[in-house]
Amino acid sequence: MSDFQRSVAFRKTGAKLQSVQGVKLHSFAESGRLADKIAGILRLECAPIEDHLFPDGETRIRVQPPGGHTAVVVRSFVEPNAKLVEVLFAADALRRAGTKRIILVAPYLPYMRQDAVFNQGEAISQRVIGALLSSGYDRVLTLEPHLHRITKLSEVFECPARSLSAAPAIAEYLRERSPVELIIGPDEESKRLVREVARINRIEWVIAEKHRLGDRSVQIKLPLIPSGLRRAALIDDIASSGATLAAIARELSAIKIATECAIVVHALFAGPAVSRMRKAGIRKIISCNTITHPTNQIEVAPIFADALRTLTR
Ligand code: R5P
Repeated sequence: MSDFQRSVAFRKTGAKLQSVQGVKLHSFAESGRLADKIAGILRLECAPIEDHLFPDGETRIRVQPPGGHTAVVVRSFVEPNAKLVEVLFAADALRRAGTKRIILVAPYLPYMRQDAVFNQGEAISQRVIGALLSSGYDRVLTLEPHLHRITKLSEVFECPARSLSAAPAIAEYLRERSPVELIIGPDEESKRLVREVARINRIEWVIAEKHRLGDRSVQIKLPLIPSGLRRAALIDDIASSGATLAAIARELSAIKIATECAIVVHALFAGPAVSRMRKAGIRKIISCNTITHPTNQIEVAPIFADALRTLTR
C-alpha cells in the first residue's frame, strides 16, 4: 500500500494516528487552510505567522513560540518575491526562539522553470532560489516542482529536499469523478506526470509538441492519436496564462475529440486564464490545492502529512 493509499484509508476509516511529539506547524495566511488540514491529519498544532507591512513597503513577521524541536513552515509561493523574503525572516525568528530543525513545506515552489540561461544576460533563478531557501531551512518538501533540464531537487538545494508526487491523487480524481479514454500532456516536461497517472489508471496517453511564441502564446502539434478515442483529459504541472492548455483543446476539438477536463497541479491562473481555457472548449478545469483557487478539487494535505510523518517520527 502506498503512502497515499494509506492516508486515504486513514481518512475513510477515521482511524486515530499517533500525534508527533515536539513538532509544530507555522503558516502564512494564504496557506492557512492547507496547513490546518496537514496539522489536523497529524494532530499537531498550527500557528499563524503574523505579517505587518510598514508604510515604506518593508515587512515585519512574527512567529508564535516554537513549542518543540521541529518547526514546519507552510507557504505556497504564487507571486513569490515578497513571500521569499518573509519565509527567510520566519526561519530566522524560529531559530532565535530555539527551534533546532526547520522544515519548509512549499506546496508550490517558484522559479523552477528558469533553470538555464535562455538568453544572454539572464540569471539561473532556480539556483538562486535554491541557495536562498537552503540558507534558512534544514529541509524542503514540495509537490511536483517543475524540473526539466535539472532533474533532481538535490541539484537545486543545498539542504535535503524532497519532491512529492501528485500522480496518485490525480489518478484517483480521474477514476472517480471524470473518466476519460485518453490523457494528453502538452510537452516533454509533463511526460513523467502524465505517464504515471496513465499507468495507475491503465489508460492511453500521448505527449504533444509545444513551441512557445511568447508569454501568452504557444503553438501545439498533436501527436498521432489512437483512433476511436473521443474524450480526453489534459494534465500539466502548471498553468499560468492558460495558453498552453487552451491551444491543445482547440487542436483536439478540430479533430472531434472533447476535452472533458484539464487538470493542473499548480493553478497559477494569471489574468483571464480560466476564461481563456473555457472559451477553448475545456469542459472542467480542476486543480490540486497547492495554491488556493476556486478550481481546487484535489486534496494534497495527506501527501504532505505522510511525508512529514516519516520525517518527524
Ligand atoms: C511549462 O513547461 C509548464 O509545464 C506549463 O506548460 C507552462 O508553464 C504553462 O504556461 P501557460 O499556461 O502560460 O501556457
